[in-house]
Amino acid sequence: MSTVWEDNYSYTARNVRPSPVREMLAVIKQPGMISFAGGMPAPEVFPVDKFYEGAHVLKDDGKNLLQYGTTEGYAPLKEFLASFTAERMGRTVATDEMLLTTGSQQALELFASALIDRGDFVVTENPSYLAALTTFYNHGAQFLGIPTDNEGMKVDLLPGVIEKARAEGKKVKFIYTIVNFHNPGGSTMSLERRKKLVEISQRYDIPIFEDDPYGYVRYEGDHLPSIFSFDDKGGTLYAGSFSKILAPGSRIGWVTGNKEIIRKMVVFKQAADLCSSPICQSLVYEYCRKGYLSEHLPVIIETYRPKRDKMEECLQKYLAPYGVSWVKPEGGFFFWLDMPGIDSRELFKKAVEKKVAFVVGTPFCVDEAAGIDKARLNFTFVQPDVIEDGISRLAEAIGEMKA
Ligand SMILES: Cc1ncc(COP(=O)(O)O)c(C=O)c1O
Repeated sequence: MSTVWEDNYSYTARNVRPSPVREMLAVIKQPGMISFAGGMPAPEVFPVDKFYEGAHVLKDDGKNLLQYGTTEGYAPLKEFLASFTAERMGRTVATDEMLLTTGSQQALELFASALIDRGDFVVTENPSYLAALTTFYNHGAQFLGIPTDNEGMKVDLLPGVIEKARAEGKKVKFIYTIVNFHNPGGSTMSLERRKKLVEISQRYDIPIFEDDPYGYVRYEGDHLPSIFSFDDKGGTLYAGSFSKILAPGSRIGWVTGNKEIIRKMVVFKQAADLCSSPICQSLVYEYCRKGYLSEHLPVIIETYRPKRDKMEECLQKYLAPYGVSWVKPEGGFFFWLDMPGIDSRELFKKAVEKKVAFVVGTPFCVDEAAGIDKARLNFTFVQPDVIEDGISRLAEAIGEMKA
């Protein structure tokens, strides 16, 4: 029997996809489970005391901070970000080229509202960030997945894909890319490909969404300029976030782009939440203003690099003998395993019995088949001393499947 709710659901609600990762949380929370599943920072690096130090702003400026804020975002934090990101962006952007969002997840949502009509096509890496795919899907998008290698999206394939899509009457609305330390792929787009992507975007008049929540979490090598910095025509929107470099609980992200698209996103944000929390924005600003963010980044990096190295050592020792391979991430949070001949959905069931969890590859892939023999492993959240235990349990599970 249908319910009053079911009868009245929107088209979107009838087709909406819950996040497989969020749905897995119950499993991950089982006692004794070693979780490589979530994309979470390590709580031990949260700068609780220094963050708390800024709480005096509530007394000093409470009458403003407890009021609604502007939709565009807390001006002092935008000014800080304009200068903090200047090197990456190629210049100090103006504050009206920036919008503060409730996490960069909201940037994806606002961008999708501004660009996607039902049936439009979005170009993404294949695999890509699950919650971006879900957001775009919920707005009615379909996908053109581009394979990746250790230099990121294979942009040389784009002209052919775009031309074919157009010949078939498909409307290609934008290119979504995670440039640094890809989630889930781990790769970073090379400088040459960044420039080429801008050239392709301009040649075909298709804008770019450059998603970069991990960019400042680099364990080795030099930072690369953003795609935004090469785009002299204003067709690239860059999204950053405090989630991985400070705390996801702050729920503060930012987007930088041409004033026209920023203004459009502001209008959608007015309808989404009026403004991001002025309290959170000012607490984050207090923290950043004192130079704490710049001091904190090396702490994060020094905490995560040994975890990444430990995980790679264990992958080499326990999983490589089964033909498993990966791109070593120069930063970020994830290893993406290529496991020829191993069905990750079967492996997940066995792994959970052995109390180790990861995320199966299928939901990250535009065509699920491409993700069957893939798995995403997070290395930032776990303690280094359990990584070996977890990977060896995974190897045991694979061994049993192969037996
Ligand atoms: C590639 C990518 N984009 C965006 C986000 C959203 O992050 P937040 O909303 O916490 O800023 C994430 C979170 O994991 C991510 O991995």
